[in-house]
Amino acid sequence: MTDPLTSWSLDTVCRVEFGPGRIELLPELIAATGHHRAFVVTDPGLRAAGIAERVLKILTAAGVEHAVYDEVAPNPSTGNVDAGAARARGFGPAAVVALGGGSVLDAAKGISLLVGNPDAAAADADRLWEAADGLPLIAVPTTSGTGAETNGFGVVEDTTACRKVYIGHPSVKPCVALLDPELTLGLPPAATAATGIDALVHGIESLASRGANAFSTAYAAQAVTMIGHSLPLAHRDGSDLQARAELMMGAHLAGQALTLSGLGLVHGIGHALTAHTGTPHGVALAAVLEEVMEFSTPRAREPYERAARALGVTPPADGDWARAAVAAVRELSGALDVKRPLRALGADRSLLPAIAAGAVADAVTRNAPRLPEEREVLEILTRVY
Ligand SMILES: NC(=O)c1ccc[n+]([C@@H]2O[C@H](COP(=O)([O-])OP(=O)(O)OC[C@H]3O[C@@H](n4cnc5c(N)ncnc54)[C@H](O)[C@@H]3O)[C@@H](O)[C@H]2O)c1
Ligand SMILES: [Fe+2]
Repeated sequence: MTDPLTSWSLDTVCRVEFGPGRIELLPELIAATGHHRAFVVTDPGLRAAGIAERVLKILTAAGVEHAVYDEVAPNPSTGNVDAGAARARGFGPAAVVALGGGSVLDAAKGISLLVGNPDAAAADADRLWEAADGLPLIAVPTTSGTGAETNGFGVVEDTTACRKVYIGHPSVKPCVALLDPELTLGLPPAATAATGIDALVHGIESLASRGANAFSTAYAAQAVTMIGHSLPLAHRDGSDLQARAELMMGAHLAGQALTLSGLGLVHGIGHALTAHTGTPHGVALAAVLEEVMEFSTPRAREPYERAARALGVTPPADGDWARAAVAAVRELSGALDVKRPLRALGADRSLLPAIAAGAVADAVTRNAPRLPEEREVLEILTRVY
């Protein structure tokens, strides 16, 4: 049980539009922001998949004047955000439409904010939290993973200072999350697996987080049920719209949960692994998920039981629900073929101490149910090497 005396506040108010074909509402949603023009942020993958064209056609048909920045890179950089902001400033007042995965959503938050702060650059992120408002943002996720549509910050690589910066502001938390599962039908199986595991980890880490409360737990438990059921189906058959829809809703709920509760050590290690090797976020998480759950079990028996029940696990004969949860996660991850040893992810053995140190120092780790020492993280990393 989470402590009933824990204080918390809830600010999930953003409009959510969910359903196949809902993308057609975009012109109306833009008008509801008070703007009649749109600045669309997207990436080359969405162009290649034909999704950007589908959406731009809807804007053209409705007579919505628009401009596009389509050069966001995976793990976007401050350079990306600055270039997008320069184009958006040139275009003038508009609603910003972020069309893509977490990378695009994150970059678009920075772009929106910089338009409201004409003298700032993305590298000023640390002082922009109390700056002027950005442009209103409509988030249209095309992966079912990060839940980035639920919060007002983006993770961006400052390529000059060689560090990750959090760029954000309350005004760039999306005012609408437009969740249309049709937009995810073409996501390839490997990307479906990696982004889906990210969403599953959000649910599991949110359940076990020190910051969990009744709201986050309710969202996270439902998220784990929906993701556990739909992820293998969407991975096996990407054209299964029912599975895509369930997965998208599950990932969104997991995002709502983590925004309220915080996460834990799987994300701490995942961030450090990505920083050192460039491994995609979900693949980095999958590499250590079960091992971190085993490490955390002494402090997370109850949340792991909740996770196991949410995954539909048969009651274990020995009553060890936590072990059953780990086994269920191992089976799910195995079916997705997403877990790789660290040596296959480009992590030289000599990098492990730096990855362990990075994981312990990452603020996300502070919510872990069992706080690790560097030596303990190194042991986990060595086991999965
Ligand atoms: N702000 C947050 O709360 C938050 C949380 C977690 C992660 N993130 C960030 O999100 C990023 C990862 O996002 P992601 O996992 O969604 O991946 P991504 O946005 O990097 O996309 C991965 C690839 O998939 C392609 N793609 C996306 N949707 C597609 C579709 N429907 N069909 C075909 N191709 C498609 C993209 O073009 C891209 O090449 C990282 O930069 C991470 O730091 C942010
Ligand atoms: Fe994540």
